[in-house]
Amino acid sequence: MIAFSLLVAYLLGSIPTAVWVSKLFFGVDVRALGSGNAGATNVARTLGWEAALPVVLVDVGKGALAAALPKLFWQGFPVWLPLACAVAAVVGHTFPVFAGFRGGKGVATAGGGLLVLAPALVGLAALVWLAVVVLTRIVSLASLLAALTLVVGAFAWPALAPWGMKPLALLLCLFVFWTHRQNIRRLLSGQEPRFTFGKPKP
Ligand code: G3P
Repeated sequence: MIAFSLLVAYLLGSIPTAVWVSKLFFGVDVRALGSGNAGATNVARTLGWEAALPVVLVDVGKGALAAALPKLFWQGFPVWLPLACAVAAVVGHTFPVFAGFRGGKGVATAGGGLLVLAPALVGLAALVWLAVVVLTRIVSLASLLAALTLVVGAFAWPALAPWGMKPLALLLCLFVFWTHRQNIRRLLSGQEPRFTFGKPKP
């Protein structure tokens, strides 16, 4: 049952929403556009917000569903399993079996999982994300600072962090920093572009 839950969570995370939306509705692979990332930010940047909206909703939703799987289908599941399912979904999002193992950076899917596991903590991180986007229009910086907020929040305010959240926040933060390693290089060299919405092609 444990292996089955983790497999289903990974497969849920593997749904390559950005790739499928860009291919189905625009006839392009978003991984060939903009930053090359298969995520909502790059879809919004290159194809417009109308395309990005379903991507972010599904990417958050699949993380949330993965984290909720044990509770939905299994009485007496191990307490750590929802956390492991959230991680499996994020791994699936970044290495999707349905899209050649080239996926996104895991932010929305991690956010979805944490929405189920630690809603107050993810609410705090989301506020930081929003503030940084509004102030700088650099989405990667917002994602990195939101990931750091998870860790700081989990350690500084235990009330926001249910069981297992400290190691989970640390793990997800490290993973997000790793997936953003090219963004970090561009940020350090002052070359990370500021976000603007793209226009869908006629
Ligand atoms: O969630 C991804 C975001 O933080 C960065 O996306 O396309 O600017 O690399 P992108």
